[in-house]
Amino acid sequence: MRGAKNLLAAIALGMAALIALVLTGATGAAVQGGTKAGAGRLDPKPGIEKKIDELLKQMTLDEKLQQLQLDADWEITDDGARAGVGSVFSLTDPVRINHHQHIAVEQSRLHIPILFAFDTIHGYRTVFPTPLGEASSFDPSVPTADDTIGARETATVGIKQIYSPMVDLSHEPRWGRIAEGAGEDPYLGSVFAAARVEAAQGADYSALDKVVTSVKHFAAYGQPEGGREYNTTDMSEQRLRNFYLPPFKAAIEAGAGTVMCSFNAISGVPGCANHETETDILKKEWKFDGFIESDYTAVDELIRHGIAGNGADAAEAALNAGTDSEMVSTNIRDNAQQLLADHRITMGRIDDAVRRILRVKFRAGLFDQPYVDQAKATDPASFVTAADRAAERAAAGKSMVLLKNDGGALPLDPTKSVAVIGPLGNDQHDMLGPWWGVGRDTDAVSLYDGIKAQDTSTTTFTPGCAMIDKDPPDLTPADECGSDAGFAAAVEAAQGAQQVVLAVGESRGQSGEAAARTEIDLPGKQQELIDAIKATGKPFVVVLFNGRPLTLTKVAASSPAILEAWFPGVEAGNAVADVLFGKVNPGGKLPVSFPRVLGQIPIYYNHEPTGRPCDPTFKWNARYRDLNFCDPLYAFGYGLSYTTFAISNLRLSSDEMRHNDTVTASVDVQNTGARSGDEVVQLYIHDPVASISQPVRRLRGFERVTLAPGQTKTVTFTLGADDVGFYDNSGHFVVEPGTIDVYAGDSSTATLTDSFTVTH
Ligand code: NOJ
Repeated sequence: MRGAKNLLAAIALGMAALIALVLTGATGAAVQGGTKAGAGRLDPKPGIEKKIDELLKQMTLDEKLQQLQLDADWEITDDGARAGVGSVFSLTDPVRINHHQHIAVEQSRLHIPILFAFDTIHGYRTVFPTPLGEASSFDPSVPTADDTIGARETATVGIKQIYSPMVDLSHEPRWGRIAEGAGEDPYLGSVFAAARVEAAQGADYSALDKVVTSVKHFAAYGQPEGGREYNTTDMSEQRLRNFYLPPFKAAIEAGAGTVMCSFNAISGVPGCANHETETDILKKEWKFDGFIESDYTAVDELIRHGIAGNGADAAEAALNAGTDSEMVSTNIRDNAQQLLADHRITMGRIDDAVRRILRVKFRAGLFDQPYVDQAKATDPASFVTAADRAAERAAAGKSMVLLKNDGGALPLDPTKSVAVIGPLGNDQHDMLGPWWGVGRDTDAVSLYDGIKAQDTSTTTFTPGCAMIDKDPPDLTPADECGSDAGFAAAVEAAQGAQQVVLAVGESRGQSGEAAARTEIDLPGKQQELIDAIKATGKPFVVVLFNGRPLTLTKVAASSPAILEAWFPGVEAGNAVADVLFGKVNPGGKLPVSFPRVLGQIPIYYNHEPTGRPCDPTFKWNARYRDLNFCDPLYAFGYGLSYTTFAISNLRLSSDEMRHNDTVTASVDVQNTGARSGDEVVQLYIHDPVASISQPVRRLRGFERVTLAPGQTKTVTFTLGADDVGFYDNSGHFVVEPGTIDVYAGDSSTATLTDSFTVTH
């Protein structure tokens, strides 16, 4: 170990290039991000390339350009289908899907089917919890259930591509779309990305219940300045590769067939005109052979980004960077002929883009089976089945995080009367979250109904105030719980009950796309409502429905128990009631840090060290003058249970990791309480001396285990070069010799520690 320290000192002195083992991106790919290359990479349909050659030979330029066009539901016409438009998104009526497909296949000259697409983000009709909520499960079976059901329902209406998974890592809780991703960690994000792709696509996405995924938004869309949607991103190469790209890479390795390029500029270059990310990294380094579609009018927006003077410039920039398909705007289709004549683009590039699109259509089985079974697609029994609801309810239960539970306030006693109070207490609409697919409010079970079904005494509901979800285009300021006129009735209801459940949070319109917030506390007068209920002296618990991390300092100071339920989906009320009454013991953990105050943003567990780390007891360091804390209110990986656990006995298989070796880390986890429950055992590493500063902790393993009272299990994690290495600022994956500290426990603040040495 001492020798290694000397080597490390050498690295620090600038000799990294001499002794670092430099791996290419491809070599580092296998496990970087926590997943192995999936079966989806094997082409299940040999012979496709020949068929594409045949088609390409016959296609006119115009027919090729039609393939590159991606129209919206409201743009597609019979003439468009006849001309051979490539793809259509957001059309969900199976009758219209078949209508246009019949025209494309029977009346277009080359009979090429249309690829229909949809944003199935957390469910099509059976709406699951928001992805950030699902990430709280730390259990890949949750996104697997979501995407298995979502893919089946989507494919049932004739849609073969989903604009999912959204894998944008984010340190920006102001950003509304943080709800759509897996939070702040590249490893957790990678495991979830791969699980979603594998579930939605299966081994062969031509299967009738499977779809091809589009992983988005490529790239670094989760870090817009100020948290404002669509805004600029600027970052180092190592940040891009160590934080933002791993979930994409994991999705590609799992076989994701398509990718959506992002609206935002990275270091001045918009995602859909970014040669480095689209061609150099995605297509060349990662050997991605599917296609990239632009986000909505993102090619046209290159003009407003200021990197294209007109539509022709925009088309040239997008195509030459690697964008294959243009959503909604038509610059490529309109300008390619002239651009070819002017030698600004090549026929080779056009052919490559067409080939990629046709490849996906062949793999999707569209040439063999272009039409949808209309009887099945219009049969209500095909959607939100009892079994799907049961799977959703279980997923929602696993996704909830118990943030606080003083004095065992939870679980509640089901024989006592309950007053459900709060603007989200009898709500169906918001329970579906910001991407509800074709979900219907009437599909959702409200909290009031869920509690009523399990409470054997009386249950009442009193809103206190109203949650007014103002979806665009209503741009008047949001009015969530804007009035306290209903507080007196709420107080009276509390006084008349034995226990109170307070349902507060955000409306679903406050999360998702174009829903950035400047404050991330409880909107409106909801804190005052909590205070009014607290003043009654009745036992109460808080249930939160929200899409993003909130600043909960006041809520935590005033409330004995807080259950973070996110937006739980169609079975919301039943799933929350399961947890409130103890049928389900909460075991979720936060996939993102919850700041104490807004000014702490960005605050994330895997930050790099500084020369003067934050210390509230001393002045000259990275602290805030007006905050006596350095940490978030609730850390990444944190979450309580109705039972208790002890994690102990961390042991490593070796104190040395030689090149290509692995080291295993094992711990024992015991349920030390009186109830059965789930614990998520987490493994973090830290490289204390490296050629570039390494995050203070990096998650490299987790496992959710269920334990009966008194039961102990041993959990073992395997660490390899892909775990201990990192990308440098030249884009090389390096494994440097030296010490690696290992931490194991129940959150990112785990204290059980040991270390080993990496040698070459
Ligand atoms: C814009 C969003 O950014 C993207 O995520 C979505 O897939 C498209 N619109 C299509 O709805």
